[in-house]
Amino acid sequence: MTEHGNPYPVSDTAALVMLWASGYYETKPLIGAYLRRLDLSSGRQLLERYNRICPWYSEVIINRKHFIKNTVEELIKNDAKRTIIVNLGAGFSPLALELSPRLCDHVRFIEIDRSNMSHKHQLYSELVPDRCRFISCIESDIADTACLIEDLTKEMGEPARTRLIVVMEGLTYYIGRPAMERVLESLSGLVPDLSIVFEHLKPCRLVSGERRFIPYRIFSHIRDYTSLDRMTTYSEDEIRAILGPGFSCSYCDMDKMETKRTGSCRYFPAPDSGWLSCAVAVRKARRRITRP
Ligand SMILES: C[S@@+](CC[C@H](N)C(=O)[O-])C[C@H]1O[C@@H](n2cnc3c(N)ncnc32)[C@H](O)[C@@H]1O
Repeated sequence: MTEHGNPYPVSDTAALVMLWASGYYETKPLIGAYLRRLDLSSGRQLLERYNRICPWYSEVIINRKHFIKNTVEELIKNDAKRTIIVNLGAGFSPLALELSPRLCDHVRFIEIDRSNMSHKHQLYSELVPDRCRFISCIESDIADTACLIEDLTKEMGEPARTRLIVVMEGLTYYIGRPAMERVLESLSGLVPDLSIVFEHLKPCRLVSGERRFIPYRIFSHIRDYTSLDRMTTYSEDEIRAILGPGFSCSYCDMDKMETKRTGSCRYFPAPDSGWLSCAVAVRKARRRITRP
């Protein structure tokens, strides 16, 4: 409950992600307080339906969230340049809150989604009043790349002096491949110093035969439920090809994400036992050599 009213109603699919992650977030006081300000009840039916297909599905979402937060933290550390973190399709993800102790004039956070962004910023102003000025929440369709670049340019300042870290979590399945290629091309042209955390769904052929039914049944239901024609999938090679030369790319399947979080491979014994993976692509700006 907020000071000013009832918990904010979250749409069903966005609520589903937060319900899956809630066991993890509730152990963190700030994020627990944020969760209590959201009404996640609309996601309960989907949660029950998908947990019948895979009772431990929350492990997937928690591994992914843990991996992405830690990856962004590492990326922030590695450079003294002015840094902008952009969470595309941020939904109700509390990544900005998790990173809020690190935010300042020099390290800013931008969230973009089609809806709910002004309310989200209001929550930030209540929960982290001293940090919320370093977070911008923008309502926009990221597939409108002209608008995306205009929004980012306004926030970024001089591209040569800025480093951009782009997070795409729980987003790439919903955006058609041509639109995603345009987004990546636009971001690539915007700033030389660019890192992209690209979480994605793998094609069924790259998932082991005994596990394939899980992503198949869950994502075909999400596809029909959200009236999409298809869910977009990527292989590691396809991501490398789309990004093109200039990026150094590391790749993490769910078995690695699980090991990083828990120290063991209990649910994901091999790379092909998971269906969500993450590519982390980093391109450093070339240093200009000044001659004496
Ligand atoms: C499954 S939610 C994931 C939210 C969050 N990234 C997370 O992982 O917790 C997908 C989000 O992407 C947003 N989204 C999908 N297509 C978008 C687009 N074209 N422009 C902006 N946001 C979009 C949706 O509104 C939704 O909030």
